[in-house]
Amino acid sequence: MSLYPAESAARSLKVTAASLQAKKRQGEKIACLTAYDYPFARLLDEAGVDLLLVGDSWGMAVAGYDDTLAVTLDDIVSATQNVGRGARRALVVADMPYGSYHLSPEQAVGNAIRLIKEAGAGAVKLEGARPEVIAALVAAEVPVLAHLGLTPQSVHRLGGYRVQATTEPAARQLLEDAVSIEAAGACLLVLEGVPRELAAAVTARLTIPTIGIGAGPDCDGQILVLHDLLGLSFRPRPKFVRAYAELAAVVRAAAESYRQDVEAGRFPADQESYHTPPSPRASGAGAGLTLP
Ligand code: KIV
Repeated sequence: MSLYPAESAARSLKVTAASLQAKKRQGEKIACLTAYDYPFARLLDEAGVDLLLVGDSWGMAVAGYDDTLAVTLDDIVSATQNVGRGARRALVVADMPYGSYHLSPEQAVGNAIRLIKEAGAGAVKLEGARPEVIAALVAAEVPVLAHLGLTPQSVHRLGGYRVQATTEPAARQLLEDAVSIEAAGACLLVLEGVPRELAAAVTARLTIPTIGIGAGPDCDGQILVLHDLLGLSFRPRPKFVRAYAELAAVVRAAAESYRQDVEAGRFPADQESYHTPPSPRASGAGAGLTLP
């Protein structure tokens, strides 16, 4: 029973880590996407997407970096604020960028609190098997998504963006890491770039939901980078991406038509122009216009 019935009616519409865990128990799949700005966040929220991740993939999808390493906490704070204004129902998760949680649990807690207080995130995500950092965040009331497998912030150590945990010892290690992350209090686990069979085994083993990206269909939910889903990316399309639109072509064609219309004097037309109100005393071209 709620202490505050009116407020709880509005809150009950919001997706939370707890409601996503309930989805797993009920066998319902969880749909997640990345988002970085207000209009797309609003559209994805209206489309019923459960979780919007303000990923550090922003660095590659939006800012044009070659990897995610240069993304700053300020970048994520600003993008999360924009996404939060568009998301009424979806859980907004802020990614902790490289260097914002690697030094100590205290550093992680300080930066995560900024993402909650200043940016308005409902949870944060960090990469790697870091149960001690996750436990410190949970103790500070911060819901945490963990991220295992292909962790893009480890690109230098991994030597590129490759499928991970393809050997038996590596798969066993990932399963152990997943169990320790759940024990530390993580509320969800993102599995990226791992064999389908391993993702299925982790999903069966954990009580918290797994969210896959390049991890096959047996995870409890899926996430894609929005710009990949929309066909707005300039990189070769990886096998795990399904593009549901080809927006790059749509945008290029729209801009080209606009340029041609401007160059040919077809834009703006008279209907797209304002007119001086007619003067009762004058008629003809320029009628009603009083100029010094
Ligand atoms: O930064 C990001 O968008 C991510 C997802 C790909 C899971 O970490």
